[in-house]
Amino acid sequence: MATKIGIIGAGKIGEALVQGILAQKLASREELMLSVRSEKHRAELEARTGIRTLTDNREVAVAAETIVIAVKPKNVGEVLDGIADLLGPKKLVISTAAGVPLELLEGRVPAGTPVIRTMPNMAVAIGEGMTALSPGKTVPAERLDWATSIFRACGRALVVGEEHMDAVTGLSGSGPAYVYIIIESLADGGVKLGLPRDVATELAAQTVLGAAANVLKTGEHPAKLKDQVTTPAGVTIDGILELEEGRVRVTLIKAVVKAAERARQLLHKAY
Ligand SMILES: NC(=O)c1ccc[n+]([C@@H]2O[C@H](COP(=O)([O-])OP(=O)(O)OC[C@H]3O[C@@H](n4cnc5c(N)ncnc54)[C@H](OP(=O)(O)O)[C@@H]3O)[C@@H](O)[C@H]2O)c1
Repeated sequence: MATKIGIIGAGKIGEALVQGILAQKLASREELMLSVRSEKHRAELEARTGIRTLTDNREVAVAAETIVIAVKPKNVGEVLDGIADLLGPKKLVISTAAGVPLELLEGRVPAGTPVIRTMPNMAVAIGEGMTALSPGKTVPAERLDWATSIFRACGRALVVGEEHMDAVTGLSGSGPAYVYIIIESLADGGVKLGLPRDVATELAAQTVLGAAANVLKTGEHPAKLKDQVTTPAGVTIDGILELEEGRVRVTLIKAVVKAAERARQLLHKAY
């Protein structure tokens, strides 16, 4: 079976993508090929996933039409330099690296090679990821559709202008970590009131899931949904008052802005 998708740098995000692709049956194990740097990781990954895994990126670049580059931002340049002569208009290069712009990606591959910059998050591993894609100069519409379908197989995906990529990184790229802290804190509140830890965590996680699903399903402004569950002189408004005193809004806004700034700085380290 021909290799459909090669993932160079099958670490946390690369492996998460693999899980999503397999779960949604977008490609079979035989249609995937992976590479990592160390032999130890290669052997462990191949044994665990049953997917052909190499330490030779060039072999992946020859075999796969779609090549996902999922190494750390600082390694993207060396990886592209190592396979550049094997690329061209027939290949599709998809980068997941935070803060590495299209201009630099395109500068490292032969002219005419379609390149797409993406920002997924870890929830791609369970089919609930959020990925933004920005196509480079020479990406035919059907290639962008194909790339979008890879990430849609692993959750939601949308195309944004590259100028928004740092904001996406600070919001949905880093966002799962913020939400884990929110869930943990809500659960701590339950534990403080005597709930067993596992019960409190389930209550908190399902509450976040339900609220998020409601926002996506109804398309309503979150403030309107909040108003719907906040009875005048009821219980919830007292909780909201505490949140406002704790400056939860400004803290979350600043978290997104700070992470986006950091994403912008990564560029200087990458090249
Ligand atoms: N983690 C996230 O939530 C997330 C979200 C969005 C985007 N991203 C982006 O995704 C990229 C990967 O992040 P990650 O968290 O998945 O990193 P990671 O777990 O460290 O994975 C990177 C992988 O790249 C491999 N690697 C390093 N140099 C290589 C080379 N020259 N050739 C082939 N493979 C090589 C490493 O192999 P060894 O294990 O053998 O060293 C490792 O498995 C980053 O650019 C990051 O900005 C991450």
